[in-house]
Formats: sequence, C-alpha cells, structure tokens
Amino acid sequence: MVERTGHALFVREFFRHPVRTASLVPSSPALAERMADVVPATGHPVVVELGPGTGAFTHALQERLGGRGRHVAIDLNPRMTGHLARRFPGVEVVEDSADALPRILAERGTGPADLVVSGLPFTVFETGERPLVETIASVLAPDGAYTQFSYSWTRWAAPARRQRARVRASFAHVETGRTVWRNFPPAFVYVASGPRSSAEVTAAAPTSTSAPAPAAAGVLPL
Ligand SMILES: C[S@@+](CC[C@H](N)C(=O)[O-])C[C@H]1O[C@@H](n2cnc3c(N)ncnc32)[C@H](O)[C@@H]1O
Repeated sequence: MVERTGHALFVREFFRHPVRTASLVPSSPALAERMADVVPATGHPVVVELGPGTGAFTHALQERLGGRGRHVAIDLNPRMTGHLARRFPGVEVVEDSADALPRILAERGTGPADLVVSGLPFTVFETGERPLVETIASVLAPDGAYTQFSYSWTRWAAPARRQRARVRASFAHVETGRTVWRNFPPAFVYVASGPRSSAEVTAAAPTSTSAPAPAAAGVLPL
C-alpha cells in the first residue's frame, strides 16, 4: 500500500525539497474527491493536472474520467513523475514546470483544456515572468474551469489573499467549497470559471466587481 500510493516517497521528497513540495503528506482521498468533482460527467474532456506529486488527485481524476478524454499531469520533480508514470499508465506524465503549460499542450495537440486542477503550492504563483494564473486561464476553453485547494488555517494569510486576488482577476466567477475536515491540514477547494484574456486582466481594475455565478449547493462565495 505504502509503495503503491507513494507516501514514503512523498515524505522523502518533502525533506529534499521542502518549499517546492510544501506538504509533509499527500492530500487525502476526501480532498481529492472534492477536486475531481468538477470533471465533466460526459464527453472526452482534456484535464490538466499541475503538481500531481505522488498522485492523490490523479487517482480521483482517473476514476472520474473512467477512460474518457485526456489527462496530462505536469510535475517538476523527476522522482514524482517516475512514480506517477508507473502508477498511472493511462496518464500523460510530463516532467516540466507548470509555466510551460501552453507549450506542453501545443506539443501534444490537445487543444484547449476543459479543466486545470492545481496541486501546486502558492509560492509557485509568486514567481515567473507571466503570472501563472493568467497562463492557466489562457489554455482553458471558454467554458473550462480551474480548481485549486487552500489550507483553511492559511485562508487569511497574505499569500492566500494574494492568490485569491490573482484568481479573481483572471476569472469571471470564483466559488469556494466548504472545509474538507478529513484532510491534514483541513482544506477547501475553489473553482474558477469564465477565464479572461490577459488583455482583459490588464484592463480590469484590481477590485473586480464581476457578478458571481449562482452558488451551487454547499458552495460559498469566495
Ligand atoms: C503540495 S505537493 C501536492 C501533491 C499532490 N497534488 C497532493 O495534493 O498530494 C506539490 C507538488 O507540486 C510540484 N511542483 C512544485 N513546483 C512546481 C512547478 N513549478 N511546476 C510543476 N510542479 C511543481 C512538487 O514537485 C510537488 O509534487
């Protein structure tokens, strides 16, 4: 079990690259379920996963896809990608940086993504020439969605607030779910839809007043 899920590998990689790995343990199945909730129930969606690590979300996404569509998983860490490729032969595993997302999808000819799922730490969003959230919005189909998680106890900390502002600037609608207590530490998921172009982001005032999408059951405004 430990070998298959890669828990030991995850802990080792945390001590090797603490900032980049950002967590001592992988996300729980309960959080993974919440992240995968957004996978379209029909058709052949293009799903892109950023920072899959040892595959906590990958497993839930694969279950949801049930062999449909394409699933591209991008992680910088070669030990993580090696493990992931062995564990999930149906997933297109890429060892690269999330910033290279447009090039990676172009090389693979996937077309626009229907869903981008991020398991990346917020530190990754604070670097790079082009804001990563803008890059993510740029590869999504107009009706595509972006989902990421945040630890509840850091909700009002500066990096989490900055990240929310970036997501709000790049997406017309952002909704956040209830706390997933069965995760260490407890976390919540937010789902952004209505991707904006870089030109729209630049033109938008920092305090966007876009009307939120109608709230689904169990979902609160961000
Ligand atoms: C917090 S772990 C999350 C792993 C998994 N999604 C989970 O929830 O258990 C973050 C992962 O992001 C990867 N990562 C960090 N920076 C990255 C980057 N710039 N591009 C791609 N992957 C990155 C790390 O190697 C690590 O596997």
